[in-house]
Amino acid sequence: MQSVKHIAIIMDGNGRWAKKQGFLKRIKGHEVGATRVRELTIHASNIGIKYLTLYAFSTENWKRPKAEVTFLMSLLEEYLKKELPLFLDNNIRFETIGDLSKLSSSLQNQVALTKEKTAHFTGLTQVLAINYGAKDEMIRAMNKAIKVGKELSEESFDALLDTKNMPPVDIMIRTGGDKRLSNYLLWQSAYSELFFTDTLWPDFSNEELDSMIEKFRKIERRFGGLT
Ligand code: IPE
Ligand code: IPE
Ligand code: MG
Repeated sequence: MQSVKHIAIIMDGNGRWAKKQGFLKRIKGHEVGATRVRELTIHASNIGIKYLTLYAFSTENWKRPKAEVTFLMSLLEEYLKKELPLFLDNNIRFETIGDLSKLSSSLQNQVALTKEKTAHFTGLTQVLAINYGAKDEMIRAMNKAIKVGKELSEESFDALLDTKNMPPVDIMIRTGGDKRLSNYLLWQSAYSELFFTDTLWPDFSNEELDSMIEKFRKIERRFGGLT
């Protein structure tokens, strides 16, 4: 049986969910989506997952209308303020990947504070990908290597990525029906098992996650070898 250490999720379909429910604004979907993050994080923690890496805002999402971008940024800040007890009560460490330097200083401060207050926890690590793009992450890593002037190996490249110290992604999930990775964890998902579901993110349930994990456990992962 395969053990699951790291689950990554592309939480897609919030806007379509809001439309389907008859809400006039897409942002209602983001709001409900954030409550799913909370519930799914507790569930993942309870079933012993070590890393849950959630795509919250991509380097390409800045292209959206200003009002939606502003809403998403304030939702992130509010989420971190509100959910501190979630981390404290469940032994959950908070981390991020992505270039935080483009975020407002109040969001950056909130991120830093949450990391600081949860750094000693040993259960699940919830990683939010904020202003994250795999290409951007890899370019930043390569530029660091160029500065030091050293040739890269797989290991030294790994250590320069935002995901340093994290295990590779076992299960990569995308909700919302599209079958693409949208610049998410391209290096770290080299040997991930991919799961695509039509379920829109606000409808994604603990049970659906469980059934994906169940399928994953039965997969024969060969990593290029033979069994
Ligand atoms: C994903 O939902 C959340 C973010 C990208 C922040 P979308 O906002 O992309 O929702 P759809 O895909 O348009 O339905
Ligand atoms: C991917 O969803 C990014 C996040 C979930 C944060 P998008 O909705 O931005 O992806 P595309 O544009 O459909 O590829
Ligand atoms: Mg989308």
